[in-house]
Amino acid sequence: MVNEAYVQLTAEGHLETRQGSGTRIAAHATARTEPPHAESSDPEPPASHVDLRPGTPDVNGFPAAAWLRSLHHVLTDPAWTPPVFPPPAGAPRLRQTVAAYLRRARGIPVDSDDVVITCGTSHGMAAVARALTATATAPGVAVEDPGWFRFRQVAAAAGVRIEPVTVDANGIDVEAVRRADVAAVICAPAHQFPTGALLSPERRRTLLTWAARASTTIVEDDYDAEFRYDGRPVGALAGLSRDHVVYLGSVSKTLHPGIRLGWLAPPPALRGVLLAAVEAAGAGPSILDQLAFAHFVETGAYDRHLRRARKTYRLRRDALVAALQKHSVTGRLGAAQGIAAGLHLTLALPSKSDEHAVVARLADLGVTAIPLSRYTMRPQPPALVLGYGRLATSRAEWVATRIAKAL
Ligand SMILES: Cc1ncc(COP(=O)(O)O)c(C=O)c1O
Repeated sequence: MVNEAYVQLTAEGHLETRQGSGTRIAAHATARTEPPHAESSDPEPPASHVDLRPGTPDVNGFPAAAWLRSLHHVLTDPAWTPPVFPPPAGAPRLRQTVAAYLRRARGIPVDSDDVVITCGTSHGMAAVARALTATATAPGVAVEDPGWFRFRQVAAAAGVRIEPVTVDANGIDVEAVRRADVAAVICAPAHQFPTGALLSPERRRTLLTWAARASTTIVEDDYDAEFRYDGRPVGALAGLSRDHVVYLGSVSKTLHPGIRLGWLAPPPALRGVLLAAVEAAGAGPSILDQLAFAHFVETGAYDRHLRRARKTYRLRRDALVAALQKHSVTGRLGAAQGIAAGLHLTLALPSKSDEHAVVARLADLGVTAIPLSRYTMRPQPPALVLGYGRLATSRAEWVATRIAKAL
């Protein structure tokens, strides 16, 4: 397998083979300098179009040279020799690295045995749905409304009953969760998707008390916690309770959604059933990517990348918020919401406006935006969700003038 990987990397020009001196990273590959994240090298979108769909980071900022160094390292250093097939819970070295990262960056007291490597949050969610149905018939799960649709999709396939719960400025309505007859709740406490609300400390406490008393499970989707720009860092809910929170994380926002690499940290009592569910939900991620990511984190490359990306995204957020203000968009509509973290914001529209008409008008003007209703289960006041992760700061004004015009 390693040989094949060599052949492939050589064929792609990443490695070069010289007789007598072995294999090395190709000169052009090592010479590639890192930051396409710097604004100056931002890919300028065609003048006529800007894509503000949320959910996707700037994959042009992928730290290709550092990633390649990590991949090269795991392929050549005997101490890193990958097993032929990844163990079901993931490569032990990566589980160890992720556990250390979660302790350090997210305040979750876990060790490697507590971590299961997945193909991303979606894989983790599918496993959670399976695990719930393994223990009850059509168990109920409270989901945020609005919220990301992935859990609803995997829940439907697994036979889980979904209970939509309202979200406000303090996050999910915890009283409504308590009233619902559910075995679990799934939420994004650090940066609710798509409203951007931060779950208040009081609601965090109430939610944890509910889970402890009712023996229910909280599934924490910590999808973009690495990108927080304002206020104090927000720890994970899983840092407050190891007994009732299933923690889900991935590299989809921080590195590249196409890598399909993530992790879950279940409470000790759910470890067995969740590991079985992860296996049943399909094969895990590539062992080469698992080890490359372990090396990438251990050598500090991940932290360096996150620092650079955080700075870039913050500048993009600032540029978009300022431009919306300057062109009187937020003056008319009220402040943009959910801007303290992440890669997107929401913009409430006048109460009688037709979201789809605004989105269609924006498309005519060259801006792709997503209506809030894409993420809602019940009718809600109209709003737009605007992703700025890929928005060059130099295009923010252009976008704001288009939005002002569309309104
Ligand atoms: C709310 C939310 N959670 C998690 C994810 C990441 O999912 P995955 O790791 O499966 O790519 C996304 C990606 O769009 C998301 O929007």
